[in-house]
Amino acid sequence: MTTAIIFGSSMGNTESAANMIAQKLGISDVLNIADIDAEKINSYDRLICGTSTWGSGDFQDDWDGFDFSSLNLNGKTVAVFGMGDSESYSDTYCSAMGKLAQALKSAGANLVGAVSTGGYTFEASDAVEDDKFVGLALDNDNYENLTESRIDAWLEQIKPYFS
Ligand SMILES: Cc1cc2nc3c(=O)[nH]c(=O)nc-3n(C[C@H](O)[C@H](O)[C@H](O)COP(=O)(O)O)c2cc1C
Repeated sequence: MTTAIIFGSSMGNTESAANMIAQKLGISDVLNIADIDAEKINSYDRLICGTSTWGSGDFQDDWDGFDFSSLNLNGKTVAVFGMGDSESYSDTYCSAMGKLAQALKSAGANLVGAVSTGGYTFEASDAVEDDKFVGLALDNDNYENLTESRIDAWLEQIKPYFS
């Protein structure tokens, strides 16, 4: 089974989380969404996709420019992670992760890796469904010290799907 980690990142924070996840899972295909198209993504069996949130709950720029219409992920296992700022943007915290999950589900993905919102402080997020984040929420602006342990706990949860 082939697996890719795909990220969109403006300042490098989502990219560094993508690299940490890749290293811990032993995945060598870490791709910047700015450099690839839907056909490339469709060629993988499984995906882990990450985006930071910009504007007010918007996609990171390169995901924003991506054409999702040619994605075909029917039945494929996909997990998402998001990078945001839960203090300065507390009412749109990691909202782009919610948009990303929605777009990937619309392309047929089977999403895994929802995370409890317990342990996070924020007002609102489009990435929350049924009291859980749709994937792993990170915050390198305020809680970079928690990033690695949050990733470790999440990987324990999703490893059965990605081993
Ligand atoms: C102008 C601006 C707008 C932002 N908007 C949001 C937002 O709506 N929600 C959020 O959670 N984070 C927001 N952020 C925080 C970024 O997502 C955060 O800094 C992130 O680490 C950037 O990751 P990147 O370097 O991978 O792009 C914003 C940051 C800036 C500078």
